Amino acid sequence: MQTIPMLNLEAQYVSIKQEMDEAIQAVLRKQHFILGENVAALEEEIARYCGMHHGVGVASGTDALILALKAAGIGPGDEVIVPTFTFVATADSVSLLGAVPVFADIDPASYTLDVSSLERLVTEKTRAIIPVHLYGQPADMDEVLAFASRHGLAVLGDTAQALGATYHQRPVCSYGDFGCLSFFPSKNLGAYGDGGMIVTQDKERASDLKMLRSHGSRRKYHSEVQGWNSRLDELQAAVLRVKLPHLEQWTAQRISRAALYNEVLRGIEGVTLPTVLPGRTHVFHQYTLRVPARDAVQAELARVGVQTAVHYPVPLHLQPMFQGLGYRRGDLPVAEKAAAEVLSLPMYPELSDAQIDRIGSALRQAVEAQLTVATAR
Ligand SMILES: Cc1ncc(COP(=O)(O)O)c(C=O)c1O
Repeated sequence: MQTIPMLNLEAQYVSIKQEMDEAIQAVLRKQHFILGENVAALEEEIARYCGMHHGVGVASGTDALILALKAAGIGPGDEVIVPTFTFVATADSVSLLGAVPVFADIDPASYTLDVSSLERLVTEKTRAIIPVHLYGQPADMDEVLAFASRHGLAVLGDTAQALGATYHQRPVCSYGDFGCLSFFPSKNLGAYGDGGMIVTQDKERASDLKMLRSHGSRRKYHSEVQGWNSRLDELQAAVLRVKLPHLEQWTAQRISRAALYNEVLRGIEGVTLPTVLPGRTHVFHQYTLRVPARDAVQAELARVGVQTAVHYPVPLHLQPMFQGLGYRRGDLPVAEKAAAEVLSLPMYPELSDAQIDRIGSALRQAVEAQLTVATAR
């Protein structure tokens, strides 16, 4: 039987092939590859979609975080609060600027920041917080914003996985000083290579970000400050402009795929399905559940042709990269438990009902087999 992949980008390409090929050809005919008309148009379109005034296209989601932190004035010695349960870029962007990530634990239901733990992380060096809307579900932004305003912190939303999600009916990207997006190919809106964008309400900050992405120069060959070469390129912008009008439809399909998973997987002993908390929409970048004996279940699913992934097996406070910060196992227990239990199932808009049925049966069997092994011990 054919393996069901985690992601099927080919199915999406086939569905938009003609308009995509034409858009790419148009860029090739024009031969203007850096900061052309597609980048400018996409910046406006994404900003509008996010409920922000300005968009600044950059080379990746990681660069979006780095440049936004820089524009927020973060530098050596500053502390930035980040959840420990996220992709590494959320924190290595902080340390790349010489600042220190301060890791927070997560809420076990939503996998986003545990807002009740934030107060005790604040020191006189704390300057910013990065809420991550993990798997496509918004963090508790009311609490994050109230906390940030009490302590005068900048808020940078890591919206890499959550484009299209809402919090109190408003796009989650519109919360905070900056929204940092990734267009990595597997994201809900994915380029055909790397790409990212920062969205903000603030005109001056947008202008600073444009300066930072081009060698610190507003005027060609005149550099004001140390900057980067980090631009979204014109081909990627053209690709993303073809995809953006389809995003709402693809998101609706993801939500319907998740609902079907919930139905098919209901009642499996020991399995915890994703929870969507009140006041939020979840765009299911990933459909991630908790399973007992996760690694054995994952191996069994692979054996029967169901690809799965673990997002993420090692929380950041336990990564060798951050060893120097002095964290130990047990420091952030909710994230550590999640890292041992989470399993992401195949998720993409074109996933069929029959595929979900097959994945559901395979998961049920794999989990039941593990429970039998456990009781026989
Ligand atoms: C939560 C999160 N933050 C940041 C990033 C970094 O984005 P990129 O891979 O485009 O640099 C990603 C995706 O890879 C992500 O999932």
